[in-house]
Amino acid sequence: MASTTGNHTIVTMAKSCPIQNVADLLSEARRVYRERFDGDDANIAVCAPGRVNLIGEHTDYNQGFVLPMALPMVTVMVGSKTSGQNCCVVTLTEAADEPRVVDFDLPTELTPLLRGQPNWANYVKGVVQHYRVQPIPGFRAVIASSVPLGGGLSSSASLEVAVYTFLQQLCPDDGDQVAKAVACQQAEHTHAAVPCGIMDQFVSVLGKEGHALLIDCRSLEAIAVPLADPGLVILITNSNVRHSLTGSEYPTRRKQCEEAAVILGKSSLRDATLQDLEAAKDRLDSVTYRRARHVIEEIERTSQAVEALKKGDYKEFGKLMVESHNSLRENYEVSCPELEELVSAALEVDGVFGSRMTGGGFGGCTVTLLQAHATERAMEHIQEKYHGSPTFYITTPSEGARALRL
Ligand code: GLA
Repeated sequence: MASTTGNHTIVTMAKSCPIQNVADLLSEARRVYRERFDGDDANIAVCAPGRVNLIGEHTDYNQGFVLPMALPMVTVMVGSKTSGQNCCVVTLTEAADEPRVVDFDLPTELTPLLRGQPNWANYVKGVVQHYRVQPIPGFRAVIASSVPLGGGLSSSASLEVAVYTFLQQLCPDDGDQVAKAVACQQAEHTHAAVPCGIMDQFVSVLGKEGHALLIDCRSLEAIAVPLADPGLVILITNSNVRHSLTGSEYPTRRKQCEEAAVILGKSSLRDATLQDLEAAKDRLDSVTYRRARHVIEEIERTSQAVEALKKGDYKEFGKLMVESHNSLRENYEVSCPELEELVSAALEVDGVFGSRMTGGGFGGCTVTLLQAHATERAMEHIQEKYHGSPTFYITTPSEGARALRL
C-alpha cells in the first residue's frame, strides 16, 4: 500500500500474520497456571482448532453439505483436577470481556449452570453442563488462543471443543467424536444463545491434517478430501469488522429456511430440488424464495466443488466459490461492503482461482484459493484496494482437537 504524506511516500508491504504456534501458547498457559495457582504445574493440556469453510455456507442447519477445514490456529487449555466442587478458569485471550478469571460450582440436577457474565465463560459453563459423563470433578484451568476472537473463524467452537477435550482427560467419556461435537453445539445453543449448525464443532473435533472435510450434516458422516497441493495456497483475509446484525440475522435466516421447507412439504431444504422450489414459487414470498434458492443451490455446489477438488480442477472449484459468494450476497443477504471489497480485489489478481466470504457473514473473513506464487501479489493488491485494514493468514488444513504432551 502506498500513501503520500508531504513529500514522502510510505510503502507498507502486505504481510501475512504469523500464527502463534501451539508450543508457545502452551508454555504461556502453563506459566500463568503456575503463577496463579501457587506454583503448581498443570497436568492436563489439550487444544482444539478454529476453522475456515471453503464452501457450503448456511447449509449445515438445513441438513446439507459443508466443506470446512481445521486451522492451525487453536485454543489451548491446561489445568488439573481438584478435590472440591469448584471450577476456576482463567483466560489469556486479550479480546475476552472482563473479568478474565471466573469461579463457579459444578452443576447438579437441581442447580444447572446458567448463562451470565463474563460472556466468554458461558462457553466453558455450557460444555461443563452438556458434558456426556456426569458428575465431573472440580478443576482449575488456563485458556489461551490464537484463533482471532469474533473473526468468523470459530473461536467459540474451538473454545467449546477445547473444554470438552479437557474434560475427557479428567473424566473420560466413550470417545464418540460425533456425540462430542453435538454436545458442544448444544452448549452454544443453550449458553451462547446462538442456534448454530454442526459444522464448526464437527470440524474442530474431526479435522484432519492436509484435508478438507466434506460433512453430511444430515447423517453426520464425513469424508476427508485431500488438500495439500504445495502449489496451492488458502489465504484468509480478516476484514477486521463485525456488524452488529450478526446476532439477530442468523436465527432469522434459520427460521426462513425452516418456513420454506414446510411450504415445500419437506422435512428440510436438503430434500428440496430447484424444481420443487419453482413449483411452489407462488406460495413463497420473494425473500423466502431467495433464501431457499441459495440453500438448495449451495448444497449442490458443495458436492460439485468436492468433485472438482478430487480432480485437482481448482479453476472449477474457484468458480463455484465465486458463485457461492454471489448467492450469499444476492439471495441470502449476509455479505457487507467490506467483504465485497475484499472478494472483488482478490478476484482481480492473476493466479487467484476463487474467493468468497466465509462463515456466518456481516463481517469476519474471506477465503481465497490461489496459486502459491501469486500470494504476495494478492495480499499487496487486496491491501491496496481495501478501505479498512486487513489481516492475512496463510493457512493449511490442520488436525482436529487433541491432548498435548506436557
Ligand atoms: C456460523 C455457524 C455455522 C454455520 C455458519 C454458516 O459459523 O456457527 O453452524 O451455520 O455460520 O455457514
